[in-house]
Order: sequence, then structure tokens, then C-alpha cells
Amino acid sequence: MNRLLAIEFSRITEAAALAAFAWVGRGDKNAADDAAVKAMRFMLNQMEMDAEIVIGEGEIDEAPMLYISEKLGSGSGEQVAIAVDPIDGTRMTAMGQNNAISVLAAGGKETLLRAPDMYMEKLVVGAEMKGMIDLNLPIEQNLRRVAQKLGKSMSQVTVMVLAKPRHDDVINRIQQLGARVIAIPDGDVAGSLLCCLPDGGVDMLYGIGGAPEGVITAAAVRALGGDMQARLLPRNEVKENSVENQQIAAEEIRRCQESGVEVNTVLRLEQLAKDDNLVFVATGITNGDLLKGIQRKGNLATTETLLIRGNSRTIRRIQSTHYLNRKDAEIYDLIGE
Ligand code: FBP
Repeated sequence: MNRLLAIEFSRITEAAALAAFAWVGRGDKNAADDAAVKAMRFMLNQMEMDAEIVIGEGEIDEAPMLYISEKLGSGSGEQVAIAVDPIDGTRMTAMGQNNAISVLAAGGKETLLRAPDMYMEKLVVGAEMKGMIDLNLPIEQNLRRVAQKLGKSMSQVTVMVLAKPRHDDVINRIQQLGARVIAIPDGDVAGSLLCCLPDGGVDMLYGIGGAPEGVITAAAVRALGGDMQARLLPRNEVKENSVENQQIAAEEIRRCQESGVEVNTVLRLEQLAKDDNLVFVATGITNGDLLKGIQRKGNLATTETLLIRGNSRTIRRIQSTHYLNRKDAEIYDLIGE
């Protein structure tokens, strides 16, 4: 991807994070998501590119969405596939909690996996562990491999897991084995990146979360030299096996078939992010382990953004201070008080 185009994506998550920030702690996750989506869509449409959303949120929490197959950009220029999550951590944003980010991955037309918004089981490790994980094996075996490869005792291994009731058993098993668990309420994209960054303090991320977050994660993991395996799971296998969830699952499976992707099958990193022609970008909304949150003082707001380019493997941290009282650009109308 054109280097300048790649860098321009940092403005997209900055705008979405700024729009979401107005809703931090206000108890309305849909309003926060709506604001971030609008800002993201507006900014993406300013870019000189022929882009399409290949995976985005929507069905899981029925929030307002940038929908799959939506066309964005000027319609001319480079063909780009985009995976979006305008807010990873909508609940955390609404409740004023740490670790909410705005995030996006973009790649060449065929770079990123096309799939519906459904659940995905994920196993992520950093570069030292590349080639060592296998989602078909029990978590215990994967952890023994991690410990051995890293030359650590099991008590020194740290695993991040989403703190959801569906993970109670696996969390217990990891702890029984002797490893340390960091259970996070939401936000497995940021958690996954911590496995791949040198000072992240996390050796592995395991758990079932959203597929859009999974594909976005894969872009970053690939660019950082880490490893990941994933499995798309029908909703009734993750949530209650109700008639409603069975119907949703049938539709998910139909849409997967349409996209030529299998459910309940292990997908390797190379199937999730197929080449290095990609960019990952995230901006902090609230303070977090990965990124600083937005600091606002009057009409000035400072953002921190992580931008990783697959081709060069450059990791940029961009700190920007935005003057919000501008009347010359429509985007500033989308950023609230
Ligand atoms: P959103 O803020 O986009 O809803 O995502 C938060 C999140 O925790 C993701 O990080 C994770 O992949 C997914 O939700 C898990 O889904 P669920 O909340 O349905 O268990």
C-alpha cells in the first residue's frame, strides 16, 4: 500500500476516538459507537482510494455500523480492503473505564479475510513463539510449549483472557496449570497487541471474541512478526443454544459459505491476513496499557495513535494535538463537547 495512504489512516482512528471521547462515562454505548462510526465514515470518504469494508461490526451487538461490503473513499485510486472496529470497548467507553480504543486495519483488495460479524476463537502469541501454537491442541499443551520456548517456568507465563462467563473454565484450567491470568472485561485487540510488543508483559492471548476484532488483530500480529490461529464459531455454540441463536448461526454459516470461509476450522495467520500489504492503526479513547487516552483541555485534545505498516514493519506512535474549535472542516461538527 502506498506509504502516504497508509499513514493517512492515522487520521481516521483519531477522528473516531475524538468523537467517542465525548461519550466517555455517559452510560450510552450505542451513542458512543454511533459517534465513532459517523466520524470514521466521514473521514474514510475523504480519502483518495477505492475501498470496501470486508469485515466490520454490527450483528453481534446490533450497534450502528460500517457495514460489510460498504464502499468508501473517493472511488478512484488504490483498491483497499478495510476491517473496522470504531470502538473496541464500547462498554468501557460508556462506563469511563480504561483500555477503550478506536481501531482499523486496511490492506490490498484480497489481503484481509472476508467474513460475517460473528464469534471467533483466538490464540495469539509474540514473534518468539511463531510456529509453536496449535488451536486444535488443549490450552495446557500450548502453554507448555510457550513456557519451554520462552525458557520460563509456568508461574512466569502470563495469559490474557476476556473475562466472560464462557471463559470461566479455561481461566480455571490456566490457573490450575500455574500460569498467571489477566482477565480483561473487553478489548481483545489491545490485549493481543500486548503479546507482540516487546514491553507488553503478556505471553499469550486466548479466548472467544468478535471476528472483526480477530481480523484486525491478525493484521497487527502479522506486521509485528507474531503468530495467531483462529476459528469462526456459530453464535449458538458460544451463547445459549436457543432457537433465535440457532437461526442467527444458520445465517452466519450461510454467509461464511458465500465468502468461501469455513466455520469451526482452524484458520492460520496467513489466512486471516494474507500478505504484508497492510496497515494497522489504533487510537486510545481512554487510558490503557497499549495507548494513552485522549487528554482534553478546552478546545485542545491530544491523541495517541499506534500505526504499524506491514511492508516495512515500522511501528509509529503518533501524538497529535487537535484544535477542536475549527469552523473550516465538517469533521469538527461530529466531535462533541
Ligand atoms: P465492542 O466494544 O466492539 O463491542 O467489542 C468489545 C469486545 O470485548 C471485543 O474486544 C471482543 O472481541 C468482543 O467484544 C467479545 O464479544 P462479547 O462482548 O459479545 O462477548
